[in-house]
Amino acid sequence: MADETSPPVDQLVVASVREDGPSSSLVKKAQFSDRVLICSIVGRTDGGAGLAGERVRVGGWVKTGREQGKGTFAFLELNDGSCPANLQVIVDASVSDLAPLVPTGTCVSVDGVLKTPPEGAKQKIELRVEKVIHVGRVDPAKYPIPKTKLTLEFLRDVLHLRARTNTISAVARIRNALAFATHSFFQEHNFLYIHTPIVTTSDCEGAGEMFQVTTLIGESERLEKDLIKNPPPTEADVEAAKLVVKERGDAVAQLKAAKASKQDMAPAVDELKKAKENVAELEKRSKLKPGIPKKDGKIDYSQDFFARQAFLTVSGQLQVETYACALSSVYTFGPTFRAENSHTSRHLAEFWMVEPEIAFADLQDDMNCAEAYVKYMCQWLLDKCYNDMELMAKNYDKGCIERLKTVASTPFVRVSYTEAVKMLEDAVAKGKKFENKVEWGVDLASEHERYLTEVLFQKPVIVYNYPKGIKAFYMRLNDDGKTVAAMDVLVPKVGELIGGSQREERYEVITERIAEMGLPMEPYEWYLDLRRFGTVKHSGFGLGFERMILFATGIDNIRDVIPFPRYPGRADL
Ligand code: 4AD
Ligand code: MG
Repeated sequence: MADETSPPVDQLVVASVREDGPSSSLVKKAQFSDRVLICSIVGRTDGGAGLAGERVRVGGWVKTGREQGKGTFAFLELNDGSCPANLQVIVDASVSDLAPLVPTGTCVSVDGVLKTPPEGAKQKIELRVEKVIHVGRVDPAKYPIPKTKLTLEFLRDVLHLRARTNTISAVARIRNALAFATHSFFQEHNFLYIHTPIVTTSDCEGAGEMFQVTTLIGESERLEKDLIKNPPPTEADVEAAKLVVKERGDAVAQLKAAKASKQDMAPAVDELKKAKENVAELEKRSKLKPGIPKKDGKIDYSQDFFARQAFLTVSGQLQVETYACALSSVYTFGPTFRAENSHTSRHLAEFWMVEPEIAFADLQDDMNCAEAYVKYMCQWLLDKCYNDMELMAKNYDKGCIERLKTVASTPFVRVSYTEAVKMLEDAVAKGKKFENKVEWGVDLASEHERYLTEVLFQKPVIVYNYPKGIKAFYMRLNDDGKTVAAMDVLVPKVGELIGGSQREERYEVITERIAEMGLPMEPYEWYLDLRRFGTVKHSGFGLGFERMILFATGIDNIRDVIPFPRYPGRADL
């Protein structure tokens, strides 16, 4: 139904590049697609009320649709992912066949006029459709994610469609916002964004949890198939071919002896050359063996793609340090991979890590940076993603908005490892039961970390100065000779969110540490060069990006906060 007061579509002066859709002076068209974003209608502070009478084209996927008034019109709740809210769309049967529009998941693009809804309606604005531009139909009997409440666990089996659900799309917007906040924070502080390699030949954490990158397996499979189809020549084949070479050689010799002209000799010389080439080829093929190439009983990596063993990175730290030791303040933000067989709700085999590295900075500076960065992200979500956070509060974690506010505004607690262990031992003495034993020297288990941050302090806690025996080789040895200048940031809901340290910048100390830990020196020679030449005090940390999203949203499982989760047994799509 056309609004009496607005001009008909064909009389409008269209200001945008496209000339087919309606235009509005109050609502901005999306720049690179043919529609208005739903967030620019319902995301306004007035919920869109001030736009009554405007003509717009919108597009999205139907959340719920129902025919009403005995099939004379249909209500569609339309969502295009630009914000959590839907736009209510009303289509008259005179405008379009209604049945194909209403199934959940249908994609529609429509032109219409925004109208003030009847008194008492929940929404502040709705769209009366004048023309249906596109319908991407759905057969409800076959659609894998019907309207019924679906568990996050169920949705992990339909990764390719789960972004159409309220939760996964809200998580996607929150994730996007946190990535933007990350760049914004570090750029504001003059850090340079460095792209560290995904394929690496160094094991940063020395924990042996790396995925290997190799073409040896594929190549050996290819060879195996080829050898079946095309069996390698036998010794007799090679001998026979050698005989041919001899015969051809004799032929050439006879011609030479007969003082034949160059021209007359040419074909015979050619034949000899071909026979020799044939022998070379047969000899090469006769040596082909199925299986992975070996040398001295070990896999011969010199024949691998990179001519050495290579892996997917577990951390960009070592490489980013090379830039920190030249450009001062840098960070890397990329995917990292760990082949640990952890089936927990906090571990992924592929996760994203944010790793700043700061020259002329000690552990205090490092902790200050980590705290400021986490606070910044919390405030960013409050400022830019409030609607999505409300959805999280409603569906997953009542306290998540309060938590963001508290974390953004209160200082983190800082305790040394030694103090933390004492506190945990005190708790045990008072009757608290842990599954894992706690005593000085052991790594804190997740239950200990969560007890500190969730029960004892109820806010983020930074534990620092860990025993050297449980930390990586690159952490700076403290004067006590027993602990290293490491720090972990522990937060409620998650436990360890950040791991970092001041780096060992003293050449003699770090070489001793590498040796002490039984690591080979050769692969770290380039890393040692940073200490040999122009060494500097420096520090950094790694924040598990998905853990930050867990902490912010209150969602329980890390597999639901990354678009395409990879974990033991699963790597869909
Ligand atoms: O404590 P981690 O192992 O530290 C490092 O890798 C350092 N090289 C970082 C640095 O100093 N530049 O890992 C850092 C963070 C952890 O605190 C945790 O939040 C996250 O990465 N993390 C994981 N997140 C998801 N799945 C896994 N398997 C993770 N392992 C670590
Ligand atoms: Mg750690």
